[in-house]
Amino acid sequence: MRLLLINGPNLNLLGKREPDLYGSTTLTSIEEDLRESGRTKGAELQFFQSNFEGALVERIHKAFGQVDGILINAGAYTHTSIALRDALLGVDIPYVELHLSNIYSREQFRHHSFLAEHAVGVVSGFGVMSYELAMEGLVNYLKKIDGSNG
Ligand code: DQA
Repeated sequence: MRLLLINGPNLNLLGKREPDLYGSTTLTSIEEDLRESGRTKGAELQFFQSNFEGALVERIHKAFGQVDGILINAGAYTHTSIALRDALLGVDIPYVELHLSNIYSREQFRHHSFLAEHAVGVVSGFGVMSYELAMEGLVNYLKKIDGSNG
């Protein structure tokens, strides 16, 4: 099973950025750990991070027919980007939305997500563990639909 983890704007700063809120783990370290635990679940991970909305859209397009599922922390674009929502719907790849912080316990403008409505599920508020939980949820979901198709 091939999975793509997409991280949006400012997530390249993890480890340095607002550590009280987002923790001290770097994105590289999150990716390495996820690659390892993905392997034990039969998932092969690809990674992409960008601070540019168009680059994120193009990476999603490139995933068409190439990956079975997408994990996405779209950062602030979660709350603003119809383009990312359309791209995800356009390629029709099951995806899980995730956030390190609990977006519902923060400012009002973070309570709305353009991606959540069509996501398989949303994980929010577990820090670095959100990545792990989101992957576990997506892997289980994909195994289940694979089982019911075959
Ligand atoms: C975030 C939450 C967003 O509201 C914020 O803009 C981020 C990070 C999170 O992982 O908690 O950049 O997606």
